[in-house]
This record gives sequence, structure tokens and C-alpha cells, in this order.
Amino acid sequence: MSLLITGGTGYIGSHTVVELLQLGKDIIIVDNLSNSSTLVLDRVKAITGKTVTFIKADICDEAALDTVFKEHDIEAVVHFAGLKAVGESNDLPLSYYQNNVSGSVTLFQVMAKHGVKNLVFSSSATVYGENNPSPLDETMPTSATNPYGQTKLMVEHVLFDLARSDSEWSIACLRYFNPIGAHESGTIGENPNGVPNNLLPYVAQVAVGRLPQLQVFGDDYDTPDGTGVRDYIHVVDLAIGHVRALESLTKIKGCKAINIGTGNGTSVLEIVNTFKEISGQEINYKVVPRRAGDIGTVYADASLANTLLGWQATRNLNTMITDTWRWQSQNPNGFE
Ligand code: NAD
Ligand code: UD1
Repeated sequence: MSLLITGGTGYIGSHTVVELLQLGKDIIIVDNLSNSSTLVLDRVKAITGKTVTFIKADICDEAALDTVFKEHDIEAVVHFAGLKAVGESNDLPLSYYQNNVSGSVTLFQVMAKHGVKNLVFSSSATVYGENNPSPLDETMPTSATNPYGQTKLMVEHVLFDLARSDSEWSIACLRYFNPIGAHESGTIGENPNGVPNNLLPYVAQVAVGRLPQLQVFGDDYDTPDGTGVRDYIHVVDLAIGHVRALESLTKIKGCKAINIGTGNGTSVLEIVNTFKEISGQEINYKVVPRRAGDIGTVYADASLANTLLGWQATRNLNTMITDTWRWQSQNPNGFE
């Protein structure tokens, strides 16, 4: 039996594939390479000594997915494939709805047709919207403020409806907080296209000299130092969260939304100062007005993951930043 990993050559997918290969799992990756490269597969092999079956295909391509399910004995799917840039989603909403919503529905239809009803889905803390106080827990109301967030929320609704319609489905919607860091080998990590939107890859590129200056978006939030507070989580802890979710699917009847965070908040300036200390590099920054759509404080109540999946994060901020820096300094231009 194999596991199908959609988006498995991407940032979070590749780290999850490493953890699964190290447990002896048989892995099939489906990815259209829109935001990744097959170079990652050589790195995954170097870490694990194992190979995966790689299929270049789009999750919107029903016939291609059908062939994958016909040719392989698949027990469960981890569904990472999707577009993830909030700003771009405002400019290209149709691409986001097509890729993330239609593509996901196509995948679920093919899974249903082949009787594969075990699924772990990449959701996001963005589904908590702007109006809930942290710590955020899974019982709070959900909403979205941009097309990207809408797509995550819509797919969650599809999955709750699907599980209600057919009791054979076991589904974990993992609501990630802010994934950062890289594999401790320094050989795989986050490799954003163009100028990064997220804080950590931006800081890392300033440290390595690829970008001149970080803009700190606002220092007038109601937080200890006035800058935004987030729940950063090491990507390897997140990957292990997927392993625990797969192991727990037999217990999860229906569809469950589960936060994957540390439960701790860290400010932008704490990130900058820790990065500076660990890398020994100057991080040139200036404070600018708040970014539209941002909120001051976001962190998880991560207790459900502990009780339901037996999972909790174990890597601290120093490890997250040490591993980010190792990846960035050893691979200043990503996988190329
Ligand atoms: P990523 O872009 O590195 O990986 C996504 C992968 O999916 C890429 O390899 C891309 O080529 C592939 N892909 C995209 N559309 C596809 C399609 N139609 N068919 C086949 N493959 C396709 O992103 P990531 O950071 O690893 O994120 C993985 C998932 O987690 C995404 O669904 C994302 O929305 C979600 N998520 C990410 C974050 C984050 O901060 N990185 C936070 C919350 C949720
Ligand atoms: C962003 C997305 C969110 C997505 C998440 C993880 C927006 C509005 N939200 O959230 O939907 O789920 O990434 O992918 O884009 N910051 C700076 N300067 C920068 C970049 C960020 O000061 O150049 C600050 C932000 O204001 C924030 C913190 O750093 O306080 C983290 O930002 P970021 O990494 O973009 O994550 P989120 O804002 O949590």
C-alpha cells in the first residue's frame, strides 16, 4: 500500500515525504511543478537513501488522477497541492478557486471513485479570520478576508459535507500556523519564487545579502514591543504532525479540524534579533506602516492536536532559526 502526496515536491510536502520515507512508507508524489522542482527529489534521496514515485500531473486533471489510482494501491492521501500567495490571490482569484477548490474537488471525486477515503488536508490558521482572540481554538467561528483564505475555508466545508454524507471518510484538516525552518541537513527548505511575502524567507534573504532591507509592517500593535506576534512552527514538527495525523485517521471518524502550532507567540523584532544573533549577520530593517489585512496577535491553542493525535511541537525558536539560516546560507539561490 502507498501514500499519495499531492504537492509533495513543495516546501511542507518535501519535509513530510522525508519523515514518511524514514518510516519505510511507499510514497507517490503528484505535483505539477508550478512552484517546485524535481531537484528536491535528489535531496530527499540524499537524506533518506530512498526514492519515491514521482508523477508530474495537475490535480485538476481528472484522467491523470484516475490513472494514478488505477495503477497504484493507495491507502491514504496527504493533499498539499495548491497556490498559497495571499496578495496574488487578490489579483488572480479565478486561478485560486480553480486550482485550490476545483482541483481539490476533482481529487476527492477520484478518491471516492476508487474507495480511498483517508485524507489529510493542508488548511491554514487564516480560516480564523480577523475577529477571534488568540489563543485560537477549533470551536471558534471561521471567516476569510482574501481569496486564498476563502479557498481553504471552502475546501474545509466540502470536506465536512463529504464526511457527513458518507461515514467511511476519515479526514484531518490541519490548520497550520506559521511554518518556518528547514530540514536539519540544510539540503531542503523553503524556496519562494521572486520576492518573499512571508517574514522568515524575507529576513533570511536580507541576512544572506540578496535583499537590502526588511520592512517591519507596523510597531503600533497592542503587543509587548508593538510589532506583530505569530505562532512560528518548525516545518519538521509540522511534517511529524502529518505522520501522527495519518496514524490517527483510524480513530478520526468523519472530518476534524486540528490546529498545528506551538501555542507560543513571537514578535517580528524578536525574530529579527534572534536571526541576527544566530547568523552573525546584520539585519537591516525599517519600520513602515501596517500591512493591509494584518492583525496584531495570532497564536494557537494546540491542545486538540495533543489529545487527538498525540502530537506536540518540540523544536524551539533557536532551532527554527538555526535551521533556516543553515538552509539559506548553504543554498543562497535555493535548489538551483
Ligand atoms: P509550496 O508552494 O511549496 O507547495 C505546494 C506544491 O503544490 C508545489 O510543489 C506546487 O508545484 C504544487 N501544486 C500547486 N498547484 C498544483 C496543482 N494544481 N496540481 C499539482 N500540484 C500543484 O507550498 P507549501 O508552503 O509547501 O504549502 C503546502 C500547502 O500548505 C498549501 O496548500 C498551502 O496553502 C498550505 N499552507 C501553507 C502555509 C505556509 O505558510 N507555507 C500555511 C498554511 C497552509
Ligand atoms: C500570512 C498570510 C496568511 C498565511 C500566512 C502563512 C497575509 C495578510 N497573511 O500571514 O494568510 O496563512 O502568511 O503563509 O499575507 N512581516 C513584516 N515584514 C515582512 C513580512 C511580514 O513585518 O516583510 C510581519 C507581518 O506583519 C506579521 C509577521 O511578520 O506580523 C508574519 O508575517 P507573514 O510571514 O507574512 O505571516 P502572516 O502575517 O501570519
